[in-house]
Amino acid sequence: MFNLNTFEAVNWNRPTSELADVFWKQQTKQYWLETEVPVSKDILKWKSFEHQDVYKKVLGGLTLLDTIQTNIGMNEISKHLDDLQEKAVLTLFGAMEAIHARSYSYIFTTLCSNQEIDEVFEWVKENKQLQFKAKKISEQYKSITDKESLWKAMFSSVLLESFLFYSGFFYPLYLAGQGLMKNSAEVISLILRDEALHGVSVGYFAQNIFKTFPEEKQTELKLWGYQFLLELYENEMKYTEEIYSDIGLAAEVKKYVRYNANKALANLGLDKMFDDEAIDPIVMNGIRTDSVTHDFFSQKGNSYTIAKVKAITDNTFKF
Ligand SMILES: [Fe+2]
Ligand SMILES: [Fe+2]
Repeated sequence: MFNLNTFEAVNWNRPTSELADVFWKQQTKQYWLETEVPVSKDILKWKSFEHQDVYKKVLGGLTLLDTIQTNIGMNEISKHLDDLQEKAVLTLFGAMEAIHARSYSYIFTTLCSNQEIDEVFEWVKENKQLQFKAKKISEQYKSITDKESLWKAMFSSVLLESFLFYSGFFYPLYLAGQGLMKNSAEVISLILRDEALHGVSVGYFAQNIFKTFPEEKQTELKLWGYQFLLELYENEMKYTEEIYSDIGLAAEVKKYVRYNANKALANLGLDKMFDDEAIDPIVMNGIRTDSVTHDFFSQKGNSYTIAKVKAITDNTFKF
């Protein structure tokens, strides 16, 4: 929190937080804007696409999560961190969340009529599972008063970044893996790459706070965390059923959700909760990006060639 007697300037000359500089540089290296992706090339395929309704709902749900991360998540956590470099990193992440939220609108505007778009945004307000997860996560963001509640908010943020997005990410990736709606999926891949960085970074900062708690408190917080995850997991299962059962994909999406729940826990330095399962190779194919249309000379494309930071783990930035 700011000391209102003496104002301190952020000094990047020497590290005050281990890895803050690495996370900052990684985010700036992978900076992108939605207008760099030619989504309009999907229009022809979209016109004859059978399951437009599922696609629109998935994007609507993702928009809600990125709106919360922009307006509440990164702001609230940043506000309560002590380290000025960590605050700056989260503020930068927050700006990317705003770009993500806008990107879905870019896809909507390119593919759908105004009326269709309005209907989806109304549906988001009425969908029980979406509202449930928005409420559960936002409650944690809004109740930060001390280190313990700050850790809970960061735990919630990592769940959102590394776990709760994936019931939505699945579909564009699954379609792209089959050569459908590839340009829109490229936007999703760029978002996913940022969310992966955010999950790792906030997870790392959260682990540093967690280490300062006595063992008894750590045990209590872990228990809270697993229960919180389980509650959100059950909600994700219902959401997945509602969205995907008609097109026969619910079982595959559920596996992908569990896989990413384990990833979120790993980002927080906690043991996994679910058994390993094979993920639909079509989805993994959609992530690995032979389908790239993005043409950059740098590492900004969605090729996931993100620099590795050995200080965390060998595979940290291999999203
Ligand atoms: Fe985001
Ligand atoms: Fe994020």
